[in-house]
Amino acid sequence: MRTYDIIRKKRDGHKLTQEEITELVRGYVDGSVPDYQMSAFCMAVFLKGMDEEETYWLTEVMRTSGDIIDLKGIEGFTIDKHSTGGVGDKTSLVLGPVLACLGLKVAKMSGRGLGHTGGTIDKLEAIKGFSTELTSEQFVKAVNKVGLAIVGQTGNLVPADKKMYALRDVTATVDSIPLIAASIMSKKLAVCNKGLVLDVKVGSGAFMKTVEDARKLASLMVKIGAQAGRKVAAVLTNMDEPLGEMVGNACEIIEAIDTLHYKGPESFTNLIKELCSEALMLENPKLTKEEAVNKVIEVLKNGKAFEKLVEMVESQGGDSSMIKDYSKLPHSAKTVELKSDKDGYISQIQCEEVGLSAMMLGAGRETKEDKIDMGVGLKLVKHVGDQVKVGDVIAELYINPERKDNEKAMERLRAAITIVPEKVVARKLILDIVRS
Ligand code: URA
Repeated sequence: MRTYDIIRKKRDGHKLTQEEITELVRGYVDGSVPDYQMSAFCMAVFLKGMDEEETYWLTEVMRTSGDIIDLKGIEGFTIDKHSTGGVGDKTSLVLGPVLACLGLKVAKMSGRGLGHTGGTIDKLEAIKGFSTELTSEQFVKAVNKVGLAIVGQTGNLVPADKKMYALRDVTATVDSIPLIAASIMSKKLAVCNKGLVLDVKVGSGAFMKTVEDARKLASLMVKIGAQAGRKVAAVLTNMDEPLGEMVGNACEIIEAIDTLHYKGPESFTNLIKELCSEALMLENPKLTKEEAVNKVIEVLKNGKAFEKLVEMVESQGGDSSMIKDYSKLPHSAKTVELKSDKDGYISQIQCEEVGLSAMMLGAGRETKEDKIDMGVGLKLVKHVGDQVKVGDVIAELYINPERKDNEKAMERLRAAITIVPEKVVARKLILDIVRS
């Protein structure tokens, strides 16, 4: 079928065949389908949707467009976690060690941060010597020995998504449930883990603004995973504010370490309990939720999860003395406080703006070439629902005084925090769970 006819068929709301979807995506990757036709197709999907079968076919052709990481050399139940996007999201740094010391195998490929989102790989590079570039043999060996390794993504994983995502980003077609599901699941399924836990964010700072939409996205991704023979669970979590308290690089490592000692922020610790217990139940369906949560609490309290982080850092060449004594991690030259100029209650902390504020302090990159300042960042002292009075400290900013945009970053952060006169009840963090 001609590309024109495929676009027209979708524009008119008809179901496409597997052959049509495959032909279109393969043509786009090899350059025979131009950007303008793929843009028109994405807009047709955005407006007319795709059913579960079409979305699975789209995922499959995208998944197989580049390298497949088979993980065949790894013994045991391999598990991955994915978050649909977060600010202050240091989950992998805690979830990985917890699951590894409970016997699961965590072979994690993570990304770098760009714009308002931070990347796990950047955060880990706050630890001197830590290498995120292992050969596939070293990666498999590290996971078999330690139970956990975190490395950067290989260059040729799902090139179809790289091209399509860049196009969707500039054609107002990102927030389509089937396109998001295919984009995320193609990348996750290209790495052949046995289990996958999805953290689907809901709220002002997320792609999914309502619980209903997030539930649709979650159940679609869980079904795609099941069809591909993987065990998948999705946890819907609130994103009306950043996760935990810290946003930055070294400061997020510190928060992760505190959480591994069971001394982290309550909300973040609860998310860890939720995601890790779901992962344990995927591996062993006989476990009850309560038993699974108790296992997680036990390894946080007895120090085993932290020891696993130490083991991982050492196996990847990092200086573990920096995490045993985190005063050795990079830190900023100065701390400034952001104080409330109003009496009232915090109703919202816009995640993207907080992320951009941290980026302006030097914690993130505006362009791929920018160098990150590992010690800068910020701590949110107050959260949604908290009462504040004029002069109360809402946030601390860890700054490098030599940088020129510190003042602007401070004002951006102030503008990101809404204070209203009436009492606010914070939405709970865990909103729902979708299992296969
Ligand atoms: N994250 C992705 O990887 N893809 C999307 O389409 C949206 C969020």
